[in-house]
Amino acid sequence: MEKILIKGSPKLEGRVRISGAKNAALPILAACILGTEDIYLEEVPDLADIQVMLEVLKSLGVKVKSQGEGRYIINAKDLSGYQIPYELMSKMRASFLVMGPLLARMGRTENSLPGGCSIGSRPIDYHLKGFKALGATVEEDFGNISAYADQLRGNRIYLDFPSVGATENIMMAACLAQGETLIENAAKEPEIVDLSNFLRKMGARITGAGTSNIKIEGVKELAGARHATIPDRIEAGTFMVAAAITGGDVLVENVISNHISPVIAKLKEAGCQVTEDGSTVRVQAQDPLRPIDIKTLPYPGFPTDLQAQFISLMTQCKGTNVAIETVFENRFMHVDELIKMGAEIKIDGRSAIVTGGKKLQGAKVKATDLRAGAALILAGLVAEGTTELSEIYHIDRGYEHIEDKFRGLGALIERQED
Ligand code: UD1
Repeated sequence: MEKILIKGSPKLEGRVRISGAKNAALPILAACILGTEDIYLEEVPDLADIQVMLEVLKSLGVKVKSQGEGRYIINAKDLSGYQIPYELMSKMRASFLVMGPLLARMGRTENSLPGGCSIGSRPIDYHLKGFKALGATVEEDFGNISAYADQLRGNRIYLDFPSVGATENIMMAACLAQGETLIENAAKEPEIVDLSNFLRKMGARITGAGTSNIKIEGVKELAGARHATIPDRIEAGTFMVAAAITGGDVLVENVISNHISPVIAKLKEAGCQVTEDGSTVRVQAQDPLRPIDIKTLPYPGFPTDLQAQFISLMTQCKGTNVAIETVFENRFMHVDELIKMGAEIKIDGRSAIVTGGKKLQGAKVKATDLRAGAALILAGLVAEGTTELSEIYHIDRGYEHIEDKFRGLGALIERQED
């Protein structure tokens, strides 16, 4: 098993380029199922989760051609399958995103329940409710889900919570439905807008993505398109925290600063200087860092995918810091690992109270999930001695060339075979 070793590092300095967004590229790849012509994708990050999605597509008869450097040509003209192999579905929750497109194009889909990071129960009831509202018959049986529909029909669908995945799945299915679909209380994440932009290039008739009401006028078929994925706002936020926590000065390139407003605001509250200029954001840390509070919320609120990284930052913000997690019910598993490193953190229900300003110590810790892994790297950068991080396959699911990017900024980090 591989490990990442992180030594207490100097202040991070320099520039880092952000990759295409994992959470935009995954639904966009799933959406390729809806088209019957060549689709040219760019800025697809080189990640384990993306490889899983490409395998899912191939298993369904979709042609996938890599052109290197994150460019792919995808063609789903000869789509033939409607079942995702169990080992692919169990590896990644996002595999479930092909269900909507399969239902729309094949009229049926049969799969096991999805896997993914253990950060809560993560049900799929909103997805299924959406498929049913579009006229599909949905059957659940011992961990397997089947959905059938000769022809999906547009409908009005209210989501009890603005779920990102459910909004995407329903939006994709509705593209080929007969008539109009209205998704109410839809998720507003930038990745939804990117998916909508891509689908529109393919010929879909979608309005309102990025707001709570998304309208989809079904069409008979979708064609090819050319699209580059938006930059990853979570990766950008992670490197911005890296600059702040190490007292450094980092220019983060290839970002859309509107997408990271909560990160910019919170780093400024901590006392950092943050300068936005076109597609770059520069973070210059100040010493000492001031304590901060965060509360995770659906977009445009503070992203749950940066909560763990900010808890690492809070350990260095002198005073009492509070992080409230409202999106997932079990997303504090990194806290026990940070406590092993000397952090003073108490969990009270959905709140973590962090007494910041303590020197951390390198320790043997494990990446309990994808973002927790990134948080532990950040903590390792400011800990005394060496931090040995195991179960790093989680990190490879969502961060492209992470040690190279950190090393480029001066971090003392390396990957090692056990
Ligand atoms: C996506 C992101 C993930 C991010 C999350 C929230 C991808 C591939 N993953 O995950 O990185 O952390 O958004 O921003 O884009 N829920 C239900 N029933 C459902 C669906 C969701 O109860 O049918 C609940 C979940 O348990 C969770 C909340 O809704 O508590 C938000 O989940 P959702 O927005 O669906 O997250 P994902 O799409 O899984």
